[in-house]
Amino acid sequence: MRIGVLASSGGTNLEAILRAGLPVVAVVVDRPCGATAVAEAAGVPAELVPRTSFGPDFDRPAYTEQVVDALERHGVELVVMAGFGTVLDKQIHDAYPGRILNTHPALLPAFPGWHAVEEALAAGVKVTGCTVHLATLEVDSGPILAQEAVPVFDDDTPETLHARIKEVEHRLYPETIKRFIS
Ligand code: GRF
Repeated sequence: MRIGVLASSGGTNLEAILRAGLPVVAVVVDRPCGATAVAEAAGVPAELVPRTSFGPDFDRPAYTEQVVDALERHGVELVVMAGFGTVLDKQIHDAYPGRILNTHPALLPAFPGWHAVEEALAAGVKVTGCTVHLATLEVDSGPILAQEAVPVFDDDTPETLHARIKEVEHRLYPETIKRFIS
């Protein structure tokens, strides 16, 4: 199963996926970010499909088409989102029905969205975690494949809490991708 990873950030989950020996054939990023260097260090082609607008004029369907084109050019069969910062439109779900995975740094359905770690801290929860799920058109919903709890400590900052969550993601996400493939 040829994997394409979508990323927008540091790429530590990508690194964990590569370390696990999963067959990543391409990495697509929507902005310059650390994931590109991680891909290149592993000899995996990284493609920047630049998102030029973050405003109301953003053409989401056209952008999604470009991402799908990049994935298809590399013969990708399974899409793995690892900290991808753009919500993609219907076209990617048509091209990869039931074949898009995501990891989220909270116990969904609690704290969906981009500020999951900050919101969990602000809510004062004592336990949060991470969720690996099938991505659907609606953001951070979709069938849950795996979840693991992570404790929240009194002196946590968003950074320390996110680091603790990522430690778990780095094990849980590759494991779950392997299970999904088999
Ligand atoms: C992860 O915590 C993931 O759950 C979230 O973004 C983060 C990506 O981190 N969606 P990295 O780029 O893999 O380090």
